[in-house]
Amino acid sequence: MPNKYHSVRPLFNSSLPQLFIETYGCQMNVNDSEVVLSILQEAGFALCNKIEDADLILVNTCSIRDNAEQRIWGRLEHFKSMKKKKSSLTVGILGCMAERLKEELLNHPAVDLVAGPDSYRDLPNLLVQIREGSKQINTILSQEETYADITPVRMDQNGVSAFISIMRGCNNMCTYCVVPYVRGGERSRDPESIVREATELYENGYKEITLLGQNVDSYRWVDKDNPLKTTNFAQLLERVALISPKLRVRFSTSHPKDMSNSVLYTMAMYDNICKHIHLPVQSGSDSVLSRMNRKYTRNEYLERVAMIHQIIPDCSISTDIIAGFCGESEEDHEQTMSLMKDVEFYTAFMFQYSERPNTKAARHYKDDVPSNVKNRRLNEIIKLQNELSLASNQKDLGKVFEVLVEGASKKSKSELCGRNQQNKMCVFPADGHKTGDFVNIRITSCTSATLKGEVVK
Ligand code: 5AD
Ligand code: SF4
Repeated sequence: MPNKYHSVRPLFNSSLPQLFIETYGCQMNVNDSEVVLSILQEAGFALCNKIEDADLILVNTCSIRDNAEQRIWGRLEHFKSMKKKKSSLTVGILGCMAERLKEELLNHPAVDLVAGPDSYRDLPNLLVQIREGSKQINTILSQEETYADITPVRMDQNGVSAFISIMRGCNNMCTYCVVPYVRGGERSRDPESIVREATELYENGYKEITLLGQNVDSYRWVDKDNPLKTTNFAQLLERVALISPKLRVRFSTSHPKDMSNSVLYTMAMYDNICKHIHLPVQSGSDSVLSRMNRKYTRNEYLERVAMIHQIIPDCSISTDIIAGFCGESEEDHEQTMSLMKDVEFYTAFMFQYSERPNTKAARHYKDDVPSNVKNRRLNEIIKLQNELSLASNQKDLGKVFEVLVEGASKKSKSELCGRNQQNKMCVFPADGHKTGDFVNIRITSCTSATLKGEVVK
């Protein structure tokens, strides 16, 4: 399939209508914003850096927890006052919250446009109709849309590391999660278009790509002309790794019930596939896991972890944890803490359970853990994770890692920062190196969040 949207236009051009995109939520949303930029560049918009310059503001939203949505409602009040000063300003809401709330958002006085995650191709058309004077909405979910033919326009400009979506939607139906409702059913993207996009990025100087999906292990492409020809995630990963040994490959997110040994063997086989797996556990208690509909037990999770260590001894594992899910007892919470200690995650994303309207949990279970208890449990989890992160980093003292330089460190211009394969952030003296270089670093000290080191000459 030829790439219809493959823009070679400059990112900024003040003589064109100015577009400002604000992105919330996950990496998938970051990548979707790049797809939106590609479509709108083609329709004659140029990106702007300052929101005050915008003719069109698009907000790509997240619905995963209530506080993510509350932030957006707050932003809308701000846009309302911006519109009082600039009546020609158009404001559009994209993404998961657009899909979930539809007309409720459109009815807000600041909002002209609501477009769900599968309707971005329709944006130019919707914008024309808005110019003619009416608010517009498209939240139709698709069984096919993967935006395979659209080359995302990278916004961050660091030119080192990029995301590639390999699939969209989700079929897992975890009972707490809004994603299947707002992003629709799972569909995989044509591997040819993925390999082509990765190759182009590599040829344009990118050093690292991250393959994205809600559940990459269930990636499966069936050739339309020959249904016997299929591609699974391990095969896709191998094809991408083979583009060049100098291109680092990452992926996210893995589901413990689907992560196959063949993916692990593929990781072990190729030096350029980063030795890091994000494997959300959510809870360490079997009864909570069962109510969450995660489809694995605590033991099965621990077996997966053991297999990772066996096949890829230097692999790091990170996770997501929810504190205070419906019916979670003190003992369930202790089980989560003990699993964390068993696995020794190097880092974790930790959240309080937030009930999402119309999910299975909202319909069938009582959100019965009081918020002060959720809060206390979350704090205990965070405190434990800080200790585990520090211990994990201390084990790296004296080791040498290859680090891909991402840029200057936040604290000092004379220092650079970048990640090792295990996804740990490393900070070290610049020593003549620059963004995009691979540098060998010996670790000399650490905090729970960062490894500090010196360049190995
Ligand atoms: N409440 C709190 N956390 C949630 N997550 C998903 N849904 C919810 C919810 N309703 C977390 C999970 C998931 C991560 C992306 O967000 O841990 O892995
Ligand atoms: Fe990403 Fe989920 Fe938030 Fe949507 S709801 S932006 S899929 S984290």
